[in-house]
Amino acid sequence: MKHLIDPTDLSVSEISEIIALAEDIIAHRERYSEACRGKKLATLFYEPSTRTRLSFTAAMMELGGNVIGFADAKSSSVSKGETVQDTVRVINCFADIIAMRHKVEGAPLAATEVSRTPIINAGDGSHSHPTQTMTDLLTIKRELGTLNNLTIGLVGDLKYGRTVHSLIKAMTRYEGTKFVLIAPPELALPDYIKHDVCDRYGVEYRESSDIESVIGDVDILYMTRVQQERFTDLEEYERVKDCFVLDAAKMRGAKEHMAVLHPLPRVNEIAIDVDADPRAAYFRQVENGKFVRMALILKLLEWQEDAERKFDHGGKDLGCKCPNPLCISNLEPVRPRFDKADDVVRCVYCESKAE
Ligand code: CP
Repeated sequence: MKHLIDPTDLSVSEISEIIALAEDIIAHRERYSEACRGKKLATLFYEPSTRTRLSFTAAMMELGGNVIGFADAKSSSVSKGETVQDTVRVINCFADIIAMRHKVEGAPLAATEVSRTPIINAGDGSHSHPTQTMTDLLTIKRELGTLNNLTIGLVGDLKYGRTVHSLIKAMTRYEGTKFVLIAPPELALPDYIKHDVCDRYGVEYRESSDIESVIGDVDILYMTRVQQERFTDLEEYERVKDCFVLDAAKMRGAKEHMAVLHPLPRVNEIAIDVDADPRAAYFRQVENGKFVRMALILKLLEWQEDAERKFDHGGKDLGCKCPNPLCISNLEPVRPRFDKADDVVRCVYCESKAE
């Protein structure tokens, strides 16, 4: 069984296959209109969403398939205390493939332990958002023509921003990638991404305290929202929420071919005077999300039967405890899974350093 929980569940060649299929769907949409006839996608959204849930829905509809699911966990039996794994066992009786968004980190990975159908992580807490990453990669490819030798500026909430974490993991595997990290100290990139991902793969990164001084160096400016819902201290949110705002004046310092991406929704971090700039790619990025999800649904259903396709997050019970209160291992009865590398033990569900 092949699932998509983390961007690294896909090899670089599998990513290329998915991007190529998405580009073929864009060019020949009519050829795919019956491709999922008789199949059902379940969208299990325990956390709010506009783009991800509706683009999955539109994707399956354009493939000729059907969609079931819930957009609010309160309207499902989760509100009566049903666990993620029991919910998935039930949905397995109704659907061929499942897209799950959850505020609890590691919930989609826990789902894979019991599922008879492919699970797609549609965003788990602050941890990972691989289908947004596939959207971002298709957008970068379509805007700049390549995924190699790019300098990517990442702006805003790099601490809780799951889209940033997933994009970094994916882009470290492409030749010549460099990152510029632009965030207030309170929202700096977690150490596990800096060290276990960037340093391990020898990817260059530098930090900056403003957009203006680096905008001329980057090929992609990846803006993100400061996410109020991830803060426990609202005063801290108020202090940092408007730290970095991109506007038309700052865009004057950017390269002619630079592209501005944003997973959206935006609040104040991109002024509306940027929208008319041809380098503002964030609404084109939304549409790419539907095409790439069509390609993902097709590929995961195809790969389901292929015993050669590997899915293995590893991990075993090492007698430790995950310190993350928002990790599935602390909230539901799942088996403990820890991995040890370079003398550091991490929880496999959320990648937090174990106690
Ligand atoms: N980019 C993204 O995940 O948007 P939604 O939260 O609206 O799905």
